[in-house]
Amino acid sequence: MLDGDPIEAAEALIASGRAAEAARDLRARLIAGRGGLLARLTLIKALLADGDSGSALAEAREAVSLNPGIAVAILALGEALLAADLLPTAIAELQRALRLDPGLVRARELVAAAWLKAGEADKALENLRQLDDPPPEMLAAAQAIKTAPRSDAGYVRHLFDQFSADYDSRMIQQLAYAGPQILLDLAAMVMPGRDHLSILDLGCGTGLAGAVFRPLASRLDGVDLSPAMIEKARLRGIYDDLAVADLETALGTNGASYDLILAADTLVYLGDLACVFRGAAARLAPDGYFLFTTEAKDGDGFELGPKRRWRHSDAYLRATAAAAGLAVAGLVAATPRHEANLPVEGFAVALTL
Ligand SMILES: C[S@@+](CC[C@H](N)C(=O)[O-])C[C@H]1O[C@@H](n2cnc3c(N)ncnc32)[C@H](O)[C@@H]1O
Repeated sequence: MLDGDPIEAAEALIASGRAAEAARDLRARLIAGRGGLLARLTLIKALLADGDSGSALAEAREAVSLNPGIAVAILALGEALLAADLLPTAIAELQRALRLDPGLVRARELVAAAWLKAGEADKALENLRQLDDPPPEMLAAAQAIKTAPRSDAGYVRHLFDQFSADYDSRMIQQLAYAGPQILLDLAAMVMPGRDHLSILDLGCGTGLAGAVFRPLASRLDGVDLSPAMIEKARLRGIYDDLAVADLETALGTNGASYDLILAADTLVYLGDLACVFRGAAARLAPDGYFLFTTEAKDGDGFELGPKRRWRHSDAYLRATAAAAGLAVAGLVAATPRHEANLPVEGFAVALTL
């Protein structure tokens, strides 16, 4: 048992890297009915320091149910939810704590951290600006997201984790999504009659493109940033291997080469495509093809559109392909989706070595 002030003793244990001991002692006190809210909040802190976010979350839920409407208890719940990577509910609880006590600096920092994790730089900055002394590394992280020539991985993951439940019906019914069929038609044009292909599906999502290409595949692998989308893809039972990974990283690792690399409606989350094209060139079999859809930009270069999707120009796609040692086997106008019932102009592109 702890000597002296049990909370101070537990804090000292946490500070000296003995959080598990602090948690054990505090839990014993609470079970013996000798601890209140402060003991439970310190227990949550110890559990978080010990990396046990599941137990911290259970204790935080208990703290809120025993102390409803108390800002620091709700803050602890928000912190535990954030540690468990449950971003939407973490943000909601931290905002609830801030409504109860707008001066709660820790809640303001944590909500900014949560928005950064979700790749939402402006929302993070909105909160950081309300702090007297915003952590410089958080300000720098927000600026890095805003200036990166691609969508933040956290933003993509958060977006599609939330979107995954009704992704297929929204894409097909509301957006008349045609990316997979457009790529299948392009494959028939540039690599007619070929099958038994080893295929890598970049940003495979729930597997809409994988399902269309499976009949041509001897092997079908998928990569996606969103664990929830990957779970949906797994349920289809059509992939040989599925990985939660950033496609730029996945392409950059040494591994099998593919007859066909697909990216259906995926490259709209990347601005600068140089890294992807180089990675695809390295992973294509000698007679392989890289097929993808993009949204179109007039003139040169690439830009971020109002829907936070990147658009690429014909000139940029050709120049970047050439720089990566890839030849353009096909580049045609296409309409991968509709928005507000209007066609979104794009390209369907086939690159080869
Ligand atoms: C609009 S969905 C398209 C999904 C699928 N290809 C289809 O045709 O339905 C875009 C997918 O790309 C994934 N994605 C975007 N950027 C990514 C990246 N850098 N690395 C891996 N996956 C990414 C997203 O998580 C999302 O599942």
